[in-house]
Amino acid sequence: MAQHGLSDRVAIISMGCTRFAEHFDRSADELAIDAVTEALDGAGLARDDIDAFWLGTYVSGISGMALARPLRLVGKPVTRVENMCATGSEALRAAVYAVACGAVDVAMAVGVEKLKDSGYAGLISPKTQDDGTRVNTSAPANFSLLAPAYQQRYGVTPELFRAAMTHVAWKNHANGALNPRAQFRKEVSKESIERSPAVAGELGVMDCSGVADGAAAAIVTRAEDAPKYTGTPLYIKALSLVTGDGSGAADPRYDYTSFPEVVGCAREAYAQAGITDPRRELALAEVHDCFTPTEIVLMEDLGFARRGNAWRDILDGVYDRDGELPVNPDGGLKSFGHPVGASGLRMIYECWLQLRGQAGARQVATADRGLALTQNLGGAPGDCVCFISVVGSRPG
Ligand code: COA
Repeated sequence: MAQHGLSDRVAIISMGCTRFAEHFDRSADELAIDAVTEALDGAGLARDDIDAFWLGTYVSGISGMALARPLRLVGKPVTRVENMCATGSEALRAAVYAVACGAVDVAMAVGVEKLKDSGYAGLISPKTQDDGTRVNTSAPANFSLLAPAYQQRYGVTPELFRAAMTHVAWKNHANGALNPRAQFRKEVSKESIERSPAVAGELGVMDCSGVADGAAAAIVTRAEDAPKYTGTPLYIKALSLVTGDGSGAADPRYDYTSFPEVVGCAREAYAQAGITDPRRELALAEVHDCFTPTEIVLMEDLGFARRGNAWRDILDGVYDRDGELPVNPDGGLKSFGHPVGASGLRMIYECWLQLRGQAGARQVATADRGLALTQNLGGAPGDCVCFISVVGSRPG
């Protein structure tokens, strides 16, 4: 039994992405139409040219009809998928697999979410009926546990760890300030990050990703068909998913300084893509910065930093836009907010721009590094789903 990579068999031939924002004047349907239209126009395709659709949405619609209805799709297979914060990435994964296995020629993945006027926020945690043993704390509370755990394990002073958390927020907001599609387009000073109102544990508002509405879409075909649509496709090098069994939160050995699901998911993705030194081989990484300590821990789980050293790398600027491995050059969840179903495809959209040299003032990818990584994390430390993709500008 194994996961088999499908490196270079499938290519992304076009993408679309709305601005992520508080879209009071746009419904989820309209946001999806906007992203889909941009993707179709980019490839010179009509809706009817797409053989199958996958819609990723967490709470903004049920069944494939949530996409078939607004797009007026007649006689098409449309499926809704959901996997917490990896929802948009799941839509891409399904579309890629459908093309790779030869079931369809052209498939579309769409991610959409409209949260701002739904009352959704990270502090409200919906509780499903279970046996009563599941921890039911909010997302900021869950992720706040990473900070004291990391400091204790690696002997990092609260002041230095605070400086690293601040640097993550400062960096991602500085990147987002350059991105017309980001929700928050202002640089934020380190002082105001550290003085932002407390939310949970050591986390202030500025350590949290925001809440937003948005949509993104990708069209995929067999790699050999891609030149019919674009001279600069992106090749799928790896798609990896690990769904945790939820035992971490109840396991006394789990110490909140790593996401084992991410470690396993990265190992699988790197094996599929043939990556041995991600820090030197990747041009950029878009990671799930839902809260600032999450990004710190992810640098180690993804193999970008040695254990206990990510905080130092961050302070040294290793993951800044002009650093050795730019992380979240589009501004991340911190600047975009997190419309759950759309975020995974929004990350791929930045890779689409960067690896094709279209990221403007944010351009970090250069010709000598043609690979980019995206990573989503859904759930909580010890109890999560992780998705990783690697995409590349060149086959082989
Ligand atoms: N980062 C930067 N700015 C933010 C922000 C954030 N996370 N959240 C809100 N803001 C800004 C708003 O733009 C607004 O600015 P303005 O007054 O200039 O318009 C101001 O702060 C207040 O916004 P508001 O919407 O009233 O904030 P809030 O107090 O309702 O929400 C949080 C703040 C932190 C509770 C909310 O952003 C949140 O729940 N974040 C976490 C989301 C989450 O858990 N997602 C799941 C991740 S796995």
